[in-house]
Parts: sequence; structure tokens; C-alpha cells
Amino acid sequence: MPITISRPRALRGDITAPGDKSVSHRAAIFNSLAKGDALVTNFSPGNDCTSTVHLLRALGVRIERTPSNSDAGDSLHVRGTGDAWIEPDNVLDAGNSGTTMRLMAGALAGRPFLAVMTGDDSLNGRPMGRVIDPLSQMGAEIRGRRRDTLAPLIFQGGKLRGIDYELPVASAQLKSALLLAGLRAEGPTRISQPALSRDHTERMLGAMGAPVKVEGLHVSVSPCRLNAVDVQVPGDISSAAFWMVAAATHQNAELCIRGVGINPSRTGVLTALRAMGANLQLTEQRIVAGEPVADVVVRSSRLRGTEIGHPLVPLLIDEIPVLAVAAAMAEGVTTIRDAAELRVKETDRIEATIDWLRSAGVECEGRPDGMSIMGAGRIMGGTFDPRNDHRLAMSIGVAGLVGEQPVTVSNGEVASVSYPGFWNEVRRLGGIVG
Ligand code: S3P
Repeated sequence: MPITISRPRALRGDITAPGDKSVSHRAAIFNSLAKGDALVTNFSPGNDCTSTVHLLRALGVRIERTPSNSDAGDSLHVRGTGDAWIEPDNVLDAGNSGTTMRLMAGALAGRPFLAVMTGDDSLNGRPMGRVIDPLSQMGAEIRGRRRDTLAPLIFQGGKLRGIDYELPVASAQLKSALLLAGLRAEGPTRISQPALSRDHTERMLGAMGAPVKVEGLHVSVSPCRLNAVDVQVPGDISSAAFWMVAAATHQNAELCIRGVGINPSRTGVLTALRAMGANLQLTEQRIVAGEPVADVVVRSSRLRGTEIGHPLVPLLIDEIPVLAVAAAMAEGVTTIRDAAELRVKETDRIEATIDWLRSAGVECEGRPDGMSIMGAGRIMGGTFDPRNDHRLAMSIGVAGLVGEQPVTVSNGEVASVSYPGFWNEVRRLGGIVG
């Protein structure tokens, strides 16, 4: 469904970002393995987290989902199984969700039953060897297409033992898969990472009683049983980022985004926008269910180009498409390096971002691990294809909110992978949506 967005004269108001996708997946999966029941509030409304709920139900977990009629997000009542998942009757479908597939791979490894997990075309083209290899070293029997590198994946049991493992990429999904397998392995599992990536797994498993130790870039876990915990999911900073960039680059804007999770392993977007000169303030800082949360106020700003590279990249990896809009609307060059992971996201986000920006009149250059964007304070309109990538679709939408000419996103509905209410919010804030 094509969606056309034009710039409103002013962009002002309050927004509540939807529940964090990463925290929502973890709250559902970990509590389904735990002893006891848990209430998860402000659960992400996106399709990705719904895929996780469907998978867990197929594994015998009882989950009741209560829709919310306010901004608060759905509630999940998860009945913990005490680590007793059952053999699914059918193929498990993770849809578009890499987090579902990789975290569930760690949780399914070495279980005494057969399970097959697939995804959509995008997910079945994304690298799974990075989880299959270390899980196989731990003793899991896992097969996949193309010599065990791609989904669909087949889990055939095995007996797990802990390993020492150096992650080849700073991936929280991979780290989490190994920690989940480590909970059921014989002996400790020790992981070292090339850079810090989001640490929601370490925090939540720790809160559930797991002996997770973190020392710098080293994380370890030993086998243990989890106790259920209630989780109030913070607002998703990756969703809030669209509004931050919109407000910073629109000429007459002030947006307050309420209840945003500001876990330091996720706040790279704040660091980058501040380095670009964004007028951005955090207010009402508080701790909600062990995670730091704040309201983020962003006003019209004069942005300049910046450099984004190691070790900042994993802390803003999902925000790079929308930061590209900030870079185009800034004065000067923004250079993004050390971000080769973008090539294996829902689509090749380096290629897709460059193709889109060039067709929107923005000069840019690609490299294997990133891109340079020559900001000239403008971005042109037109019809653009987000290549079935939710974050690309919403980033293109932001370009429509702040650029001089209308922008059409050819399949806007893909935003519902993480943010089903996105276009309604655009409309509510005065963006003209056709
Ligand atoms: C996620 C980790 C990141 C991120 C993804 C969610 C998670 O992926 O891009 O959207 O919840 O752990 P990688 O860990 O593979 O970089």
C-alpha cells in the first residue's frame, strides 16, 4: 500500500514510543522457560514480537495477551513451563524476525525433540551459521540449508556443554543465543565480544536468578533454573529515533517522546545526534524494572556532519537508516564505518539507503563497511521502495515529514514489523498522509 507524506508547517506534541522490541522478545522467551507466572506490560505491538509469542505457544507455553485500549501497549500473562517446552506439531515460523530466530535457536538447542524453524524470504537469506557453529560446538545437533548456514533450521537434540567462545561480530542476538544454551549446558559458557552490544539479556537473566557475570567485554553464565519476573517494557529507543530525527531536522519542531528506554547499550543515537549538534534533552530520568528510562525532548536544530564508527556502531545499529536522513539534512559530510553488519539486516541497508538517498538527490558514496553522506540541508521527494524493510520505510517517511517535497513509500505497511502505529502518529502530528 503506497503512503504519501508531506511536511507539516509545525511538528509539535507528545509521543509515546511503543514497547521495546528487544526487551519484549526476551521477556516472553525467558519467562516461558522460568518457574512461575509473569506479567509483561507494554509489550511491543510489532509483528516480530507476535512471531515470538506464536512460536512459544507452539512449544506448549500458555500466554494470554490482553490488548490495550490506551498508549500503554498490550499485556502478556506468561505461564512459565519450568524449562519444559514440548515438541511442536508443525514448522515454527519466525516471520521477518532475526531476534526470534536467533534467540530461539539458542533456547531450542539440545532439547529432546525435533523442531524445524523457518522465516520469510528475507530472514531465510540472513546468516545463521554464526549461531549454528557455536551451538554445534556446544553439542547441539542443528542442520540448515546451504551447509548449515541458512534457515530453515532443523533442531535434533544433542547434549550441551559450555564453551569459551569469541564472537566474530558484536551481535546481541548471537550472544543471547549462547547464553540461553549455556543455561542448560554442562559447565560454564564464556563469551567475549569485540564491542559492547545491547545487554538486555544479561540484565534480565540476572534478575531471574541466573549467575551471569559481566566483566568488560566478557560475559559468562552457568547452568541454572530461571524464576519468572514481571517486566514493564520501556519505550523503544529505536522507534523513538524516527521522531528525534524528524524534530531535529524540521524547521519548526518540538517533540517530547515519553518513556524511552535509555539503556547505555542502546543510546548511540543520542550520542550521534548530539555530536551533530541536535537540541536534545533528557528529562524525568527514572529506573523502570531495572532499565533506565527518560522523556526525550528534541527541538529544531542546525545539524552538522559527523563520524560514526567502532565502538559506537552496535549501540545505534538499527538507527543508521534514519540517521542517514539527519546526515542528508545536515551541513557537511557524515561518514559511517565499521558497519558491515548493515549488509545482513532485513535487507542490505547500506545499498538500500544509498540507492534511496541518491534517487532523492543526496550525494553519497558506499563502502563495504558503510557510507559517506554529503549533507546539503535538503532531501528531495518522489516514490521510494523500502525493500520490505520496516526501518527503511519509516526513515523514508521521516524524509517526507521534513523535506520540501512529498514522499511516497511504496509499501508503507511494512512498518508494522516493529511499529504498527507509526503512520497514525505521523497523521496525528500533522504530517499529511495520503
Ligand atoms: C537485536 C540485536 C541487533 C538488532 C536487532 C535486535 C536484539 O541485532 O539489529 O534489531 O534484540 O538482540 P544483532 O545483535 O544481530 O546486531
